[in-house]
Amino acid sequence: EKGNYRHFMQKEIFEQPTVVAQTLGSYLRQSDNSVALPQFDFDLSQIKRVTIVACGTSFYAGMVAKYWFEQFARVPVDIDVASEFRYREPVLEEGGLALFISQSGETADTLAALRHCKENGQTIAVIVNVPTSSMAREADLLLPTHAGPEIGVASTKAFSCQLAVLAALAAHMAVTKGLMSREEEQEVVGHLLEAPAALNAALDHDDDIASMAHLIAPARDVLYLGRGPDYALALEGALKLKEISYIHAEGYASGEMKHGPIALIDDKVPVIVLAPSGPLFEKTVSNMEEVRARGGQVVLISDADGLEQAGEGCLATIEMPKVHPLIAPLVYTIPVQLLAYHVACVKGTDVDQPRNLAKSVTVE
Ligand code: M6R
Repeated sequence: EKGNYRHFMQKEIFEQPTVVAQTLGSYLRQSDNSVALPQFDFDLSQIKRVTIVACGTSFYAGMVAKYWFEQFARVPVDIDVASEFRYREPVLEEGGLALFISQSGETADTLAALRHCKENGQTIAVIVNVPTSSMAREADLLLPTHAGPEIGVASTKAFSCQLAVLAALAAHMAVTKGLMSREEEQEVVGHLLEAPAALNAALDHDDDIASMAHLIAPARDVLYLGRGPDYALALEGALKLKEISYIHAEGYASGEMKHGPIALIDDKVPVIVLAPSGPLFEKTVSNMEEVRARGGQVVLISDADGLEQAGEGCLATIEMPKVHPLIAPLVYTIPVQLLAYHVACVKGTDVDQPRNLAKSVTVE
């Protein structure tokens, strides 16, 4: 039931601190700040390549994770949407781990890709929210998210829980490969355990986001920009906005702007910039300045330090808590979801059942 919420999507957005804590709780041991995965019978340290396959929002969770697997576990990562992967004759070598991410565990293309990888000798890991699903049954390593049933067609809490599991998996792989010391593991786990409180702090800005939604609602096109893991979030933010508000939106790696999309910029195209303080902040802000110099109307999402440095002259700003870069993608999920949600409310669309969409895509 929706309780006091207007929509399931809104309820599910607000459930995230709780369900991310639940999910983290099943992969992290708080007694000694270590990662603990369920039992499985292959050697994670011998994995030579990780192939991530998923669709939609689950695919964007995988895109974030690629950065983590490479950074922590120094393992090459391939990632593709399932509908492309299954028809492109991918090269699947021995010693590969194929990782499938799906809320439902039933998405037809993802399931077909899983079976293809199985037939081609890959070890199969799945991250699913429905533990009785087809994908769960066919996995060598089953990593459930504990988001609870997700009713809104636009995926929200499943995504943040997928990120939580993926971060734990990448860290664990690094530990098994001897690339992450005990102290580093404790530090990483400590940061992950800070995520639920940071998500709550992000949700505290719901009113600010609601009151600026009318600035975005009249737009015909919206761009989202980010770098690194926040590039994946830019894509996710654009997908959320398209799905429920029917506004055309695109996510771009901020460094790509000058290779084409900047031609679109005028004062009618809001540009949402995701720029947490951290190693990529300056670069993202300089791309933001290029947009502003062409009349682009920027909504900057950053922490207090970032907004102080770069917030002036923006159409609007959204303040996030200052967090470690590892958990920034989890935290910045909240404002992109809330922005799409409130814009859809201004437009009066059917938030939980957007037109032309089904919750689970079981046909290809
Ligand atoms: O159940 P799955 O995670 O496999 O579903 C994948 C996509 O269909 C899903 O994420 C879709 O893109 C959502 N409607 C996004 O909000």
